[in-house]
Amino acid sequence: MNRENRAGKTKTVKYHIAILAAALNWYCFTLARAQEMEVIAGGEIEYQNYCAICHGVDGRGFGIMAKFLTVQPTDLTQLAKKYAGRFPFWQVYRTIDGREEVRGHGTRDMPVWGARFRADAKGDDTGSRSQIAGRILSLVFYLQHIQE
Ligand code: HEC
Repeated sequence: MNRENRAGKTKTVKYHIAILAAALNWYCFTLARAQEMEVIAGGEIEYQNYCAICHGVDGRGFGIMAKFLTVQPTDLTQLAKKYAGRFPFWQVYRTIDGREEVRGHGTRDMPVWGARFRADAKGDDTGSRSQIAGRILSLVFYLQHIQE
């Protein structure tokens, strides 16, 4: 093989490696994106089941039960705006969970979902606790996703 030919071959191999790397990159990105969307979609199902009745199907606070409440449900698409442009991830988590709140600060107009999810989990072992945390987290990720 002469020198020119070898140089040409190296070029072709480099070219193929570049294409392969780009394809792999795209594949990993798509996979990561698909996983992210799966978590968010799970959160959306929980949201429509438990939250839409008050906060509305689009999260804006006009659920069918809203008119019967003395305190109006929050527009959940505006949380980031409300908190200086930063979505308050763990604060939202604690609000949904609600089990940590001190009684005596008046009754809460929002149900304590941590207790409800705990009843569904039927236990207080590590597995049950992870299950509860997972459901709340998927809700928080969904709410983060619908911020305007
Ligand atoms: C029975 C009606 C009702 C249901 C159902 C309900 N909420 Fe609420 N939610 C409220 C009301 C009313 C408020 C505002 C006043 C308050 O905090 O008590 C609120 C406040 C919130 C806040 C606080 C927003 C802020 O300003 O920090 C978050 C987050 C939230 N809800 C998420 C949810 C999620 C997620 C669900 C479903 C798992 C849900 N809510 C179900 C009535 C409800």
